[in-house]
Amino acid sequence: MRGIILAGGAGNRLKPLTKVTSKQLLPIYDQPMIYYPLQTLINGGIQDILVISDPNNIGNIVRLLGSGKDFGVRIRYEVQDSPDGLAQAFLLGEIFIGDDDVTLILGDNLFVGDGKFLEEAIRSFKGGGRVFAKEVPDPERYGVVDFDKKGQAISIEEKPKNPKSNYAVTGLYIYDNGVIAKAKSLKPSARGELEITDVNNLYLKEGRLDVRIYKDYWLDTGTFDALLEAGNTIAKLRKAGK
Ligand code: TTP
Repeated sequence: MRGIILAGGAGNRLKPLTKVTSKQLLPIYDQPMIYYPLQTLINGGIQDILVISDPNNIGNIVRLLGSGKDFGVRIRYEVQDSPDGLAQAFLLGEIFIGDDDVTLILGDNLFVGDGKFLEEAIRSFKGGGRVFAKEVPDPERYGVVDFDKKGQAISIEEKPKNPKSNYAVTGLYIYDNGVIAKAKSLKPSARGELEITDVNNLYLKEGRLDVRIYKDYWLDTGTFDALLEAGNTIAKLRKAGK
């Protein structure tokens, strides 16, 4: 299993904080944001990690994480020239992924809680795709899962005006090697991005997408309030010795 951290993006909602630095280098209490998704992948047992960022910020990210030696993993880097969508990670990462399976995590996503959940999800992964959904008060900001009466996912809609559930797809995705071909088959969406939701819907159509509910604390830190909440939550956990 290979790991990718996608840590570029425009960071428009956090301007001016992101005018001269990457969102992923902003602090979440006592650590740069990117440490958290990195730790999630490491806890999952992943040892080969590709970090993708934009041309303006990749240098600082390399300075911060280096070869990965300090974290006990191997880190490689790739540049995304412009933020053309999450699914572009599999095109930029094609050579790095090789013939392996891949776990993608977004650089601004915090999964706090039982560190073992990803390890188990990877250990029991038998192909197709596996994603994690979380109940949120504002599903229209995310890819939203529509479940049937048996609790099976039937479709995922990207940023719907009228969400069919409160379950958002979080920024952690496990795929088999077929994800590269699926990413290559995508056309840019109306907003000009290669959408991860389109990848997930391709797996869903094949009946090969497992949607799990993530039970612990999860936050996408892309807004001022989320950034503050994440910092406060981590501070509380640290002070409680966790
Ligand atoms: P978003 O929060 O969707 O986008 P953003 O970070 O550019 O912020 P804003 O919407 O405020 O402009 O991105 C989610 C994560 O994915 C974030 O960590 C940045 C990363 N990302 C990329 O690295 N490349 C991309 O092409 C996109 C769309 C996002």
